[in-house]
Amino acid sequence: MTDEVNLLVIGQGGREFAIAKKLKESDDVAHVYCAPGNVGMPSVGVETVNISENDFASLIKFAQEHNVRWTFVGPEECLVDGIVDEFHAAGLKIFGPDARAAQLEGSKEYALNFMNNYGVPTADYVSYRDQTALLNNVDQFGYPVVIKENGLAGGKGVVIAKDHDEAVQTIKEMFASGQARIVLEEYLSGPEYSMFIVISNGHYRILPIAQDHKRAYDDDRGPNTGGMGAYSPLPQLSVSDRQRMIDEVVEPTIKGLVNGGYHYHGALYIGLILTKDGPKVIEYNVRLGDPETQVILPRLETALYQLVDAAIDDRPLPEIKESSAASFGVVLASQGYPQKPLHGQKVTLPLNSAGIEIDYANVAGTLTDLHGAGGRLLMILAQGSTLQEAHDRVYNYLEEIPLAGCFYRHDIGAKAGV
Ligand code: AMP
Ligand code: GLY
Repeated sequence: MTDEVNLLVIGQGGREFAIAKKLKESDDVAHVYCAPGNVGMPSVGVETVNISENDFASLIKFAQEHNVRWTFVGPEECLVDGIVDEFHAAGLKIFGPDARAAQLEGSKEYALNFMNNYGVPTADYVSYRDQTALLNNVDQFGYPVVIKENGLAGGKGVVIAKDHDEAVQTIKEMFASGQARIVLEEYLSGPEYSMFIVISNGHYRILPIAQDHKRAYDDDRGPNTGGMGAYSPLPQLSVSDRQRMIDEVVEPTIKGLVNGGYHYHGALYIGLILTKDGPKVIEYNVRLGDPETQVILPRLETALYQLVDAAIDDRPLPEIKESSAASFGVVLASQGYPQKPLHGQKVTLPLNSAGIEIDYANVAGTLTDLHGAGGRLLMILAQGSTLQEAHDRVYNYLEEIPLAGCFYRHDIGAKAGV
């Protein structure tokens, strides 16, 4: 019994659904717990635990009492709040960066300083606490210009202002809403990619690459969201451009972590834009992405359990094997997301459609009487021998379902020509 491997995942969204499901698939693993988890998880053998993500003391107690081998942290908030430091202080193993390294996501300014210090290409930027000073310099990068809240904003704290008036209005609104510091950033144009790496103290492995869709509506219109759909692999990304991302972005990032004395054991998500001058980083996230995780993990043939276990213990990391299949997913979101999502609408879905998987996120009730709980409700996923095949499976399924109180984007994958 004591040799049983029990794991704990922290979080409750679609990303944590995909992580917990993947860990549970491993023959080495007996129990996968997820705190607090969501109502879909028991359907894939994951045991949900009614403890909130921020209740570190109860999570530690649970991990000790259930002989948890290690804990995998999904969301950024608890990393920024120091969950890793607290688990370590209790003598427990955990996968994720400590509070210091988590500032790479928790503060845009911290991340930009890190990139400048270690030669990681990024956008030009300035950062201000003072509204008047910022407004006096608002035109310096021309238009469009990117305006970012400094702290965590779930992907929603970024506005791309098309002209002076919109920039001024946005800045005033952000300061009025209580933001202490605002970053003004040069607008980068080019395709955007999400690169995920697993880091073990200076060693790393690259997971399959994906593309997210941040805007709420078709044709990249509407407000920024946490992400409305994703796919992997990316046929439009050449081998040489991918290699440039590794040489020019990943390598200096890893060197910076080592030279800066970070003891990083966790996932790092690098959001980048491939500009005509090469790849440039627009953000670091100190965790896996949502919804990219849901499409990349099905393509990972290396056992996630083995990879994370080695990373936590500083053992040599296994090679990454990617399946040749394509993976494609579309988020079903609540009407009104991201500004004012509806709650409680009934979500009626055929549950056993061949070739379709559902990664549940913000839902309540039971799988046969499912209700929305706000925001991104779930993701419809398929694999295929080509991206087109996976795409068609997902959209054919979505066309058949009633959509009261929900919406989704119809153009996921368009940039890959599907
Ligand atoms: P972030 O929260 O920093 O990832 O920003 C959210 C989204 O805004 C990104 O996924 C991009 O689509 C866009 N964005 C952020 N920074 C820039 C930039 N400097 N240039 C162009 N687009 C950007
Ligand atoms: N997909 C964007 C994020 O996880 O922040």
